Amino acid sequence: MLSVETITAGYGAITVLRDVSLTVGANEGVAVIGPNGAGKSTLVRALCGLNPVRSGRIVKDNREIHGLPAHRRTAAGIGVVLENRRLFGELTVRTNLDLAAREGDKRGSAGRRFSLDSILALFPFIEQRLDAPVELLSGGEQQMVAIGRALLLQPDLLVLDEPSTGLAPKIVKSLVGIIARIRGEGVSVLLIEQNVQLASEAADRAYVMKLGRVVDEIGPENWRGAVKDESLTRAYLGA
Ligand SMILES: Nc1ncnc2c1ncn2[C@@H]1O[C@H](COP(=O)(O)OP(=O)(O)OP(=O)(O)O)[C@@H](O)[C@H]1O
Ligand SMILES: [Mg+2]
Repeated sequence: MLSVETITAGYGAITVLRDVSLTVGANEGVAVIGPNGAGKSTLVRALCGLNPVRSGRIVKDNREIHGLPAHRRTAAGIGVVLENRRLFGELTVRTNLDLAAREGDKRGSAGRRFSLDSILALFPFIEQRLDAPVELLSGGEQQMVAIGRALLLQPDLLVLDEPSTGLAPKIVKSLVGIIARIRGEGVSVLLIEQNVQLASEAADRAYVMKLGRVVDEIGPENWRGAVKDESLTRAYLGA
């Protein structure tokens, strides 16, 4: 469903991503791990249209999308939770979710998987906070609203940039179940994550990024035991 083919991207004169290639299949959960500065968030920004791709291709459902602006990538089924969450802080939780739901409705009923009720089922705390301005929520609560908002865009590919950041350990554990439920709705997940434990439980296989390149690809058989693998931990820690 998604194929990233030897893309190069960066900022101004700086090249960050060099010949990055990866795939995500239908219903698949794929993790991207790597040390700080590896280019993981730059990859996310290149996927969702916030950073131009300088060479290479991004193909989704057999269609080239790397030339499309961000909103048309949303329409192509890519939902993204960015590192900084990017919610409208002064608006209420309800309004943030409604705006996304309206955008998601444009995809038509065929792709409709998530409603406000299904988001409340995934994140029950949201119900009590629907009328609060988002900026009054804790960082972890905002993270959950950001995931809910991305789902209301009715993606068939959800890209999560380090969703566990700022979440309490108990909630990090619940993310495994939440991602499983999202995948159960037929949504593929590309999970950028430094928490290898979470990533190995929530994704089927992984790519390791370093210095703007994919330096390793870990298949399903090795990925399940990844947390116990020291060489992998070294790669993840950047040693
Ligand atoms: N707006 C920007 N302008 C210039 N350089 C940037 C910008 N954003 C990121 N970079 C550089 O791109 C490189 C990759 O950054 P990126 O945020 O993609 O890494 P990351 O793997 O997501 O790291 P982290 O784990 O800390 O989130 C870094 O060297 C960073 O300094
Ligand atoms: Mg990052």
